[in-house]
Amino acid sequence: MTPERFDNMKILSIETSCDETAIALLEVSGLLDKPEIKILGNTLLSQAKLHEEYGGVYPSLAKREHQKNLPILLEQTLKQAGLDLDVDTECQQIDFIAVTAGPGLEPALWTGIVFAKELSQKWGKPVLPVNHMEGHIFSVLYGLESPLELPGLALLVSGGHTELVHVRSFGDYHIVGRTMDDAVGEAYDKVARMLGLTYPGGPKVSHLAEISREKRPSIDFKLPRPMLHSGNLNFSYSGLKTAVLYKLKAEGRSDEEYKEDIARAFEDAAIEVLIKKTQAALDELGDIKSLIVAGGVSANSYLRSELAKLATRHPETKLLLPPSELTTDNAIMIGLAGFIQATLHPEKLSPGYIGGALVAEGNLSLNSPTLPRS
Ligand code: KG4
Ligand code: ZN
Repeated sequence: MTPERFDNMKILSIETSCDETAIALLEVSGLLDKPEIKILGNTLLSQAKLHEEYGGVYPSLAKREHQKNLPILLEQTLKQAGLDLDVDTECQQIDFIAVTAGPGLEPALWTGIVFAKELSQKWGKPVLPVNHMEGHIFSVLYGLESPLELPGLALLVSGGHTELVHVRSFGDYHIVGRTMDDAVGEAYDKVARMLGLTYPGGPKVSHLAEISREKRPSIDFKLPRPMLHSGNLNFSYSGLKTAVLYKLKAEGRSDEEYKEDIARAFEDAAIEVLIKKTQAALDELGDIKSLIVAGGVSANSYLRSELAKLATRHPETKLLLPPSELTTDNAIMIGLAGFIQATLHPEKLSPGYIGGALVAEGNLSLNSPTLPRS
């Protein structure tokens, strides 16, 4: 079946799955593999500073902040697009609303869903539920120079997920590997905390590791590479985090140089496992035309340099990374996943798809045969 082609589709997208409140208004045209994307409006408020003292995201605080921020961001987004929220006829130009339905923190997800349903009822426009991870995968569509070739393999690395996904075609995903415990971003955040750094700690740990690499050619200790030889494509990061804790306790050192070396040893181990499992997935699946790496940790410069080396060993596979501003959570990627869903299922754009049974699903998986229906 050839998917429908839409032109100038205006999508209002909403993201509240974790600690970023984000709204975008996109105008998208063309085919799935190389849509023409115009950003008419795009706003984002990060709550990272507020969650700093908890060392991670505090769900009820996230919920309260999303509720407070959503109306403000909506007004700003529409204003950027030249639309007036108070003039219903202007908002009628919007074709549909896309909202993250999961995975994520349920109280946080609900705020976006309730807000989307209210707008959908006010404007009489359909609302499509989006899988946040599908959003991360297709963040690479933004700024793409040549059409996205599938089948692909997606390595999704964020604060909540570490997954290898076989992207067989648009809308057809199969998870081939996942973490058995902590996500890699979560491990970065926990190690950051052990080193006295604040949330989100990924970029800070990575910065320390870079300093160690610049100053010293090598370090004299190694941390374990969990599940490297597990014989499958799964990951585990909780043991590595504990290994860091023991190492810190055993040595009793807390000087800067030692922290830099610990950060480096942790990063070396964490990233080597990501690279080796990705390599194994490429070999096992075969015929992978694109390797997509997305999610917050895909901003990591050491991971990017190791991926570039991997790519040279797989010339048949094109390495695709989102632009750095789209690595962490944002609403643009949610709008793009909404565009894919609307193109594959144009029946969902009928006015019957308003609000209704749309629910938050904290553990929503990309393997789900169908997304929750609105
Ligand atoms: O995708 P994301 O914004 O949110 C989730 O959906 O989880 O990812 C956030 C995660 C945090 O754990 C953060 O520490 C990590 O991405 N992160 C990084 C870097 N930038 C963000 N980890 C390592 N190196 C980075 N440069
Ligand atoms: Zn995310």
